[in-house]
Amino acid sequence: MDGAGTHDTDRNGNGTGTGDDGAHVPDAPGGARLVGRKTVLRAALAATAAIPLALAGGPALARTLAASGTEPQLTPPCDDGDDPTPEQIEGPYFKPHSPERTSLLEPGVPGTRLTVSGYVFGRACRPLSGVLLDFWQADDNGAYDNTGFRFRGHQYTDSRGAFALTTIVPGLYPGRTRHLHVKVQAPNRPVLTTQLYFPNEPRNNTDTIFDPRLLMTVRDGNGGREAAFDFVLDVAQDPGPGPSPTPPGGTWAVGTAYRAGDQVTYGGRGYVCLQPHTAQPGWEPPSVPALWRAV
Ligand SMILES: [Fe+2]
Repeated sequence: MDGAGTHDTDRNGNGTGTGDDGAHVPDAPGGARLVGRKTVLRAALAATAAIPLALAGGPALARTLAASGTEPQLTPPCDDGDDPTPEQIEGPYFKPHSPERTSLLEPGVPGTRLTVSGYVFGRACRPLSGVLLDFWQADDNGAYDNTGFRFRGHQYTDSRGAFALTTIVPGLYPGRTRHLHVKVQAPNRPVLTTQLYFPNEPRNNTDTIFDPRLLMTVRDGNGGREAAFDFVLDVAQDPGPGPSPTPPGGTWAVGTAYRAGDQVTYGGRGYVCLQPHTAQPGWEPPSVPALWRAV
């Protein structure tokens, strides 16, 4: 996939306008949509198995929200409240054509080491691979490199939907709280432009662009700071098979060999087996009338 070309085309063509800080996304999802708890649990289990990353003391990650029964929302685009302005495309701080790299560290550049890792999910909370993430941020002194590409770089999620960035904690500059910028784009989908924030920053209370839904989970570690954030993009997905498709009180179960005439319950209803088969995810009785008839 020619990801860089794809996202550059979209950026130039979507009329994205920005305030002083790359904030508008006219083609990004406008409203938060909820994702089913069951599908979140599915992704949470898959994600936990892939990377046992448990960061305490911060906001819940999409991968762990299911444990508390909370439904995740789409990652909101950052918006400074102004209408998109085509004349201000991309703002002064974003630069296209950043180098592909997962580490923005450079020898001799001061700053507290920071890692940011997480996953990108679609609306069914299943991981999305090949998603472009283009990060840019201020240096330790709060300055952006607008002539070169210092503290700018893009990467793609792997087959598990995971990404990992190594950088420094961005410095503060007037008028803003501490933040990272990022553009996130699933293949052939609109660009989500947003920002990530740090918990317990005094300026979070006064920065009008700040959005608590974009807080990373951050802890000390590895000689610096370790942050995590899971993006949820407005990408439709088939929920797919789940780890536990048998509802409470049901007797139908994946892996069971059923014979014609067997009776089960599923979702509070009784069904009779019409053909011998071994139950598979997605073959729940209500979904497969060739195998089951309600009684
Ligand atoms: Fe900024």
